[in-house]
Amino acid sequence: MAEQIEVRAAVYRGDADGRLGIERMRLDAPAHGEVRIRVRAAGVCGSDRHVIDGEWRVPMPAVMGHEAAGVIESVGQGVRDLSPGDHVIVAWHQACQRCAECTGGKPWACMRVRSNDSQLPDGTTRWSDVDGAAAWPYLAVGAMSEFIVVPDFAAIKVDDRVPFDVASLIGCSVGTGFGAVANNAEVKPGESAVVVGAGGVGMSIISALKLAGANPIIAVDVSEEKLAEARRAGATHGLLASAELPGEVAELTGGGANAAFEAIGRVQTMQQLPELIRPGGRAVFVGLPPEGQELRLDGLQLAYDGKTIIGSNYGGLVPARDFPRIADAYLAGKLPLDALISDRTGLEGVNEAFDAMRRGERTRTVIVF
Ligand code: APR
Ligand code: ZN
Repeated sequence: MAEQIEVRAAVYRGDADGRLGIERMRLDAPAHGEVRIRVRAAGVCGSDRHVIDGEWRVPMPAVMGHEAAGVIESVGQGVRDLSPGDHVIVAWHQACQRCAECTGGKPWACMRVRSNDSQLPDGTTRWSDVDGAAAWPYLAVGAMSEFIVVPDFAAIKVDDRVPFDVASLIGCSVGTGFGAVANNAEVKPGESAVVVGAGGVGMSIISALKLAGANPIIAVDVSEEKLAEARRAGATHGLLASAELPGEVAELTGGGANAAFEAIGRVQTMQQLPELIRPGGRAVFVGLPPEGQELRLDGLQLAYDGKTIIGSNYGGLVPARDFPRIADAYLAGKLPLDALISDRTGLEGVNEAFDAMRRGERTRTVIVF
């Protein structure tokens, strides 16, 4: 039987500088229907930065990280489809699996989900610190830790040939980007697309657009360096962000793109998004803005032009269906996911990775164990 273990993890305790401490934490054995995973790779994703920069509140102490891949170490009672040694990708959106949304193929719309509050589906945590105080895994994952415990349905088996660093990204940025294109916008071959923000999530959207056969694929960023990387990932054009953007996109697409994606989480760029699409086009909000911020949109224009605004929560993913699809495309050489990883580091490099993200420098840092 598995027992409580001590693990090293990156923990946020509300430090005003947004620093994480590398602490020894206690992690319980997996309960009924849960699995414990030895984490091999954890991506450093923008959502964690929102938390440690004080834009979103979470229960603390918080074990940070939500983008993980690893190997099943032990399983709780009642777990049938996973065994120790299996390679898995972790899904951070842990829906109830029982409501009409979950059984109807829209787990991302589940209203009973607790992972946003750093809780397992039963409202509890398996974590505590060395003083015995409860600790909370960010998005019910807490990926920046040597081991984690999640419900069995949130650990999706993946082909052993997919490297752990690439697999970890499928659990959030790559999955979200792929889903935004395939599930939310349902992009068809030959459609035009624009992606605002070419960070980890934006680059994933760009590679998914290439896979979907979109053309042209226009990347927008404030950094020339990011635009160069975007071109390597499949963007046909790179534009610097500016007030003239709608006109430039209209020129390249003959009146506006069929689909536009915001992958930053900035109110200003979200507001501009409907201006980048043609009548009948789709504007997809992927980036998540700070809490409580409101958008100003031109209602008459939206209605008159029949434009659709789509909120993309976790790319409309059904993890058990979509993670293997993404892994297969990667193994077939159709999704160049290695190119999304700019840096690898140990757990102690986590603060530096967030600093680089704040400076807009790296595409994706992956913490490897
Ligand atoms: N216009 C265009 N691009 C911008 C602007 C701007 N005004 N400001 C920043 N950017 C670019 C940055 O240069 C960077 O390339 O947006 C990109 C943001 O990428 P990351 O910081 O790597 O963030 P990422 O991990 O991709 O997450 C983006 O998606 O899932 C959500 O919570 C996440 O809201 C976050 C968003
Ligand atoms: Zn994420």
